[in-house]
Amino acid sequence: MNGIVIAIDGPSGSGKSTVSRAVAQQLKLQYLDTGAMYRAFAWWVLDQGQDPENAEKVGELADHFPLRMVCDPKAPAVVVNNQDITQAIRQPEVTMAASTVSAYPKVRHTLIALQRKYIEVGKKNRGIVAEGRDITSVVAPQAPVRILLTASAAARLARRSKQTGERDQAVLKRTVVTRDQQDARTTSFMEPGEGVHLLDSTALTLEAVIAKVISWVEEETQQ
Ligand code: DC
Repeated sequence: MNGIVIAIDGPSGSGKSTVSRAVAQQLKLQYLDTGAMYRAFAWWVLDQGQDPENAEKVGELADHFPLRMVCDPKAPAVVVNNQDITQAIRQPEVTMAASTVSAYPKVRHTLIALQRKYIEVGKKNRGIVAEGRDITSVVAPQAPVRILLTASAAARLARRSKQTGERDQAVLKRTVVTRDQQDARTTSFMEPGEGVHLLDSTALTLEAVIAKVISWVEEETQQ
């Protein structure tokens, strides 16, 4: 029997990563953060001394990207060329470069193929929770449980502020709202597609969100 695939997408600060990791831990599934893959690629482009704005050169680099994702929800890690870059990919310059390079069709094509490979491996085990902007629509549209996790812009800004310690509203807006607007040009993650559960977490605790996701998984697996 194949393991389950749970696909979760949504805008920045909606809680995708926290919720996906927690669900994967509780259900003993693997966990894949596809945003971390775009970040890892951006880190590598910068590490190679390439300009993220140079679409052609960046596209060429995608063919030889030595990425390994560790899909353990208790200790997920991102490894490039045997170097653990799990922390490094959270730096602001990597965040901005990830938004730029993830818009290139060549980069998306390569990383989506890689994401599908990890999902296949997860399926051969107990299953996998995969999260990221286009997971429910493009990467895994056949996933039995697909969820769009949203929250009001105010709630997302407040969460990002708590997470990063940033208090400047203009900076927060730039990293949350503006980046989402930029990303929305290539991926659609604001409206749920057909068959995708919409979960607005604005007024919910983390525990309540996790419980709701697990109830949908149980509904699906008991059918
Ligand atoms: O979710 P995040 O902030 O870690 O994502 C990093 C960047 O990658 C962000 O600019 C959106 C982009 N991304 C994407 O285009 N497709 C995905 N499936 C995941 C992330």
